[in-house]
Amino acid sequence: VIPTLPAAIDTPALVVDLEIVEANIERMQRELASRGVALRPHTKTHKIVRLARMQLDAGAAGITVGTLGEAEVMVSGGIRDVFVAYPVIAIGPKAGRLRDLHDRAELIVGVDSAEGARALSAAVAGASGQLRVAVEIDSGQARTGVAPADAPDIARVARDAGLEVAGVFTHGGHAYAAPERVASAAADEVASLAEAAAALRAAGFETPMVSAGSTPTALLSATGAVTEHRPGTYVFGDRQQVALGAIRPQAVALHVAATVVSAHEGRFVIDAGAKTLTKDIAPYLPGYGAIPAWPNAMIERLSDYHGVVTLPHGEPGPQVGDVIAVVPNHVCPVVNEFDTLLIVREGRPVDRWPVDARGRNG
Ligand SMILES: Cc1ncc(COP(=O)(O)O)c(C=O)c1O
Repeated sequence: VIPTLPAAIDTPALVVDLEIVEANIERMQRELASRGVALRPHTKTHKIVRLARMQLDAGAAGITVGTLGEAEVMVSGGIRDVFVAYPVIAIGPKAGRLRDLHDRAELIVGVDSAEGARALSAAVAGASGQLRVAVEIDSGQARTGVAPADAPDIARVARDAGLEVAGVFTHGGHAYAAPERVASAAADEVASLAEAAAALRAAGFETPMVSAGSTPTALLSATGAVTEHRPGTYVFGDRQQVALGAIRPQAVALHVAATVVSAHEGRFVIDAGAKTLTKDIAPYLPGYGAIPAWPNAMIERLSDYHGVVTLPHGEPGPQVGDVIAVVPNHVCPVVNEFDTLLIVREGRPVDRWPVDARGRNG
């Protein structure tokens, strides 16, 4: 699918087709609703209050964020139900920030250690309402989270420290390892969450929240004991999601517009380098992004502001001055590199939206 880019565009730029975004939001909402599972989209993908509001208006039960900074921006934008799906260690300046957010919003915070639980408790000491936490479960990604059987240990520490245990959550990030890992990662999410929730309930915790979360697993693990799902990347899509089969190529809503600044035999250079495309790669995808109009081209090397693209022997490339569309490998960090998104409808610019929580990475 070769997108139509607006004419006279300053590059590099992130061009977002609003109609596709709306369709992506509506589809995920409908699919999860039909499974009886709440949608709590991860807003780290777009970091934009207005887009979070569109997701809520479509029926999302609340939002997910990855950092206190993102939470601060979303809460200041008027959004109240916010899950920080991250093991926040509320010490130093983060203690005061966490307390302030707790006073202003309906916050839920991730926890995977006794130290983390105690720091959260100390940060909200004396607050009128209890802080809610969710115990993170490692379903196979081997990043954060505890084994399902250990969830009650963390929950007890949290409860004894005065926190309210809302439930459990996991991110089946090992789905990203390869297309053939998606189904098993989704099954891992369901099984480990079910085990953890059962262990918590047996230990006397009500556990209303059983939260799975990723775009590749969204439609596969919204089942069984799972009560909510937290996909984020589905809103824009990217090359990884297409390769994993999570979204169709036509559902990619964000493209990087880049200008060809140099051309040579067998290669050309675009003005989208590492500070635009980021160096995110996937083992099953060659290069740093896809160029739909030149499907055989490979974005082989990146400097800060140069993307070096190679072509198969003898294949003609674009001309210097041409503006081309690139699908980034992983859209979330790309958005974080830009102040604004250029919003288009039917290929025509209609607005420019600031990336509100840009750089709020902690
Ligand atoms: C804890 C957590 N939840 C949800 C998500 C959203 O997943 P995705 O980016 O696959 O949409 C992520 C993404 O990294 C995450 O780390």
